[in-house]
Amino acid sequence: MNLPQQVRLVEVGPRDGLQNEKQLVPADTKVELIRRLAAAGLKTIEATSFVSPKWVPQMGDNTEVLIRVLGGEAPAGLDYPVLTPNLKGFEAALAAGAKEVAVFGAASESFSQKNINCSIAESLERFRPVTEAARAAGARVRGYVSCVAGCPYEGPVAPEKVADVAETLLAMGCYEISLGDTIGTGNPVSISRMLEAVLRRVPAEKLAGHYHDTYGMAAANVYASLQMGVAVFDASVGGLGGCPYAAGASGNVATEDLVWLLHGLGLETGIDLDALVDVAAWISAELGREPASRVARAVLAKRAKACG
Ligand code: HMG
Ligand code: MG
Repeated sequence: MNLPQQVRLVEVGPRDGLQNEKQLVPADTKVELIRRLAAAGLKTIEATSFVSPKWVPQMGDNTEVLIRVLGGEAPAGLDYPVLTPNLKGFEAALAAGAKEVAVFGAASESFSQKNINCSIAESLERFRPVTEAARAAGARVRGYVSCVAGCPYEGPVAPEKVADVAETLLAMGCYEISLGDTIGTGNPVSISRMLEAVLRRVPAEKLAGHYHDTYGMAAANVYASLQMGVAVFDASVGGLGGCPYAAGASGNVATEDLVWLLHGLGLETGIDLDALVDVAAWISAELGREPASRVARAVLAKRAKACG
């Protein structure tokens, strides 16, 4: 089978995970989470988002978190991207020291309106000055497309819609396009059809899979994507998260589940699974729950049995 040998993981738990918590998570906990994830071997950790605190209060401490992470509380030399929906967010992120930002659009009009309060076309016009300002400042820009398989308001989304937005973001200068199955309704067939349409316009080495696990399909969708040459995946420790504007959506594929799958396939990630399970157990305890990840629960149960 023709699978990529090296797979890059983008940990999105501190942002995609914690943006959806009911309680406000203290900045101390966020910074400690990022530090622990780095110690477990994650090299790219999405730290926060510079969105409106009225829309997403959970990310209202964005400047403090990023300054502390970049100021030495997390290891240097790693990538700590942040979300920036517009120029205002980009300028705040840059002032806090961001070297990489992400703009986030959607393939569904209704989701675009609910999430960022504008149409798809307007969002792309908002992203253009962000990519231009980032280029001038020497910062990298990643592009997200949400609702690549289904939309919470419109149902199934046409693959060509995803390809249109992905191609536009690439042409704007995004170095990578992360394809978000925001509500996790994709399956290996619908994700493969979506990827076929996108791959006609964007090469595989410019793509990442960002699959939410609402219906337990995320690992299967990763496997289908690997077979089509995608080698970058977003994941969330402990399976944290969801999107505040996609009711019922659960977290991304848990980073532990993804690492278990990739290592089982003989692919390298550079991540220490045992250390990662410790991080999942720690952050889940901080949030007052068990890790959502099957792998974390299985590893923890095995350890408990070995001790008992
Ligand atoms: P808006 O209300 O249309 O913005 O929101 P506006 O330009 O009219 O400004 C309104 C107010 O917001 C003003 O303040 C602005 O200064 C302020 P006021 O005068 O009322 O005091 N404002 C800002 N403040 C801080 N940071 C900013 C900013 N921009 C304006 N960047 C906006 C438009 C985009 C800001 C808003 O809709 C928003 O913040 N949305 C973010 C929603 C969000 O974070 N969603 C979750 C992330 S996306 C996701 O999870 C999907 C993903 O994981 C992939 C997947 O799974 O599919 C990425
Ligand atoms: Mg997401």
